[in-house]
Amino acid sequence: MNRRQFLSSAGIFLAGKSLHALAPRPFVPAPGAAKADHTLRIEPCTLEIGPGVSVKTIAYNGQVPGPLLRLREGVPVTIDVTNASDNADIVHWHGLAIDSYNDGAMEEGSPMIPAEHTQRYSFTPRPAGTRWYHTHAGANDNLAMGTYTGQFGFLLVEGKEQPAHYDQEIYLAIHHWEPSFVPMVETMRMESSNNPLTTGSDVGYKYATINAHMLGAGEPIRVKHGQRVLFRLLNASATENVVLALPGHTFKVMAMDGNPVPNPKPVEVLSLAVAERIDAVVEMNSPGVWVLGSTLEKVRQMGLGIVVEYAGRKGAPVWKDPAASEWDYTQFANPVVAAKPDETFTLTFRDIGPQHGSKFDTWTINNQSWPDIEPLIVQKGKRYRLVFRNGSGDQHPLHLHRHTFEVTKIGEKQISGLRKDVINVMPLDSVEVDFVADNPGDTLWHCHQQLHMDYGFMQLIKYAG
Ligand code: C2O
Ligand code: CU
Repeated sequence: MNRRQFLSSAGIFLAGKSLHALAPRPFVPAPGAAKADHTLRIEPCTLEIGPGVSVKTIAYNGQVPGPLLRLREGVPVTIDVTNASDNADIVHWHGLAIDSYNDGAMEEGSPMIPAEHTQRYSFTPRPAGTRWYHTHAGANDNLAMGTYTGQFGFLLVEGKEQPAHYDQEIYLAIHHWEPSFVPMVETMRMESSNNPLTTGSDVGYKYATINAHMLGAGEPIRVKHGQRVLFRLLNASATENVVLALPGHTFKVMAMDGNPVPNPKPVEVLSLAVAERIDAVVEMNSPGVWVLGSTLEKVRQMGLGIVVEYAGRKGAPVWKDPAASEWDYTQFANPVVAAKPDETFTLTFRDIGPQHGSKFDTWTINNQSWPDIEPLIVQKGKRYRLVFRNGSGDQHPLHLHRHTFEVTKIGEKQISGLRKDVINVMPLDSVEVDFVADNPGDTLWHCHQQLHMDYGFMQLIKYAG
């Protein structure tokens, strides 16, 4: 080793050491290390989402959604992520029960990937089901960051059992583009609180897409009469919940957030809050050319839809409004009371308006906001109930990292068997979920609405001892 080599390796060592004292260090694959099973590159790209409509964003491998990662349950995997963007970033493997370091949330101690660096994630994927991956970087008022970008993709963990019989499998990821600040809709707020009106902004969008194409701009979904098509749907929007229908057809809901539901049921309308997934089978028994899209005309005009075309059928795609219906999670669950928890945490959330001159409202959980919030403490092996009480006029898609929960109560209705990792809590409603503390390590739960998680709506769960 010559002097220069010695100095540079010593320098790396020292820099590494001091960095380590501050924050966890990304695991950098050594030169000559075995090639990773998968590679992702965080890079700027321009997407043509419609005729003459281009959006600039950041995405994985220059495509939206990112590459479909098909992993095997219980088989260890390595994924190298190179950050070719200008900002530090991080990838979260949403819905997997893995360790905190690889989970991809800074709050749990996972490292950020500095710009121009590569980080190797290694974990053993479980449980089986439709999972996904996305950036876990904060955005705050920079709407070109975080989940406002195209950084998301499907991650399928394949188990031994095939959940449903089907002839064709279609992955559909929903996203909204060109965000901007708009005044907050105040109507809900007025009914919901006695506080004087808040003045924070909200985020609105110009375009919406399914698989990065506006309605009518991409290839149609081509089907044949009599086919059974399995749709794997993901709402990868930063902030918008969506409601979808396919006129003339019903969706038989087989799995939610990747987990088989106890009571698969056909419905006309699907509701997907931010970060939710639904696997649904559609029997193609209504030949024609149809629009699968948002039930709101305004949102379809923004682009949220895709054409479904039967073989041999031509013509303009047809839309018909479905009969009005309310989304009801409980219809897919067992109408039976769930097991009793060992302990219960009651968590009430509120909107306390913009703080410290911010554009956006701050959110509180039991009157505390991230980062100034005490963690919940759990003991390994025990079953915990989280009672979510929404004291606000907004919907909140709440997500628990590293664990699957069982939904045990929606409003007044007690249920069991519905296993999810995101649950949408309606304005002023309450929902209860149970989880077993079976995966030690810091665990984040938060509202998946980017504006809410960036402004206080996060809390850690820590294992005692
Ligand atoms: Cu899908 Cu904390 O995220
Ligand atoms: Cu929220």
